[in-house]
Amino acid sequence: MLLWLKAFHIIFVVTWFAGLFYLPRIFVYHAMENDANTIARFKVMERRLLIMTHLGGALAIAFGMSLIAWWASHSEGYMKANGWLHTKLLLVFFLVVYHAYCAVLVKRFAADLNRRSDRWYRFFNEVPVILLIAIVILAVVKPW
Ligand code: HEM
Repeated sequence: MLLWLKAFHIIFVVTWFAGLFYLPRIFVYHAMENDANTIARFKVMERRLLIMTHLGGALAIAFGMSLIAWWASHSEGYMKANGWLHTKLLLVFFLVVYHAYCAVLVKRFAADLNRRSDRWYRFFNEVPVILLIAIVILAVVKPW
């Protein structure tokens, strides 16, 4: 059971990150674009990709919580013994904030109210890379 939950946890984490990596990449191109047809296409892409990202995120978190529930019912003091999990959950919280901010940006772009440069989005795009590296190292190496 544990391994099934873990497999689906990882599948939805990958789905979630596909969106968290590609949405800000579309923002980069959208912020540079002047052609009305291309801008309309970016808006559709952003809206659809955001839905997929919501689904991936919600299911990754649901399966993550089911893993905690599995461990809590099979190993006494699981939460106390695994400090890495607390740090990981803190970083996942930042990831959720980043995700929510992407949703705000999709709305702003949809209303033609973007105020930021493509250069700003290039840097913004690096945030989930750093979080991904840190979270995977915490989950796999379990350093504390
Ligand atoms: C609220 C969200 C999350 C919760 C509650 C959660 C919780 C967990 C738990 C309890 C495990 C099982 C560890 C074990 O069996 O030893 C696990 C495994 C894992 N998680 Fe998460 N997780 C969450 C989000 C994430 C995210 C965002 C990532 C990636 C960026 C991630 C990557 C992984 C990986 C790679 C494993 C497998 C580790 C291993 O056993 O080798 N998780 N997660």
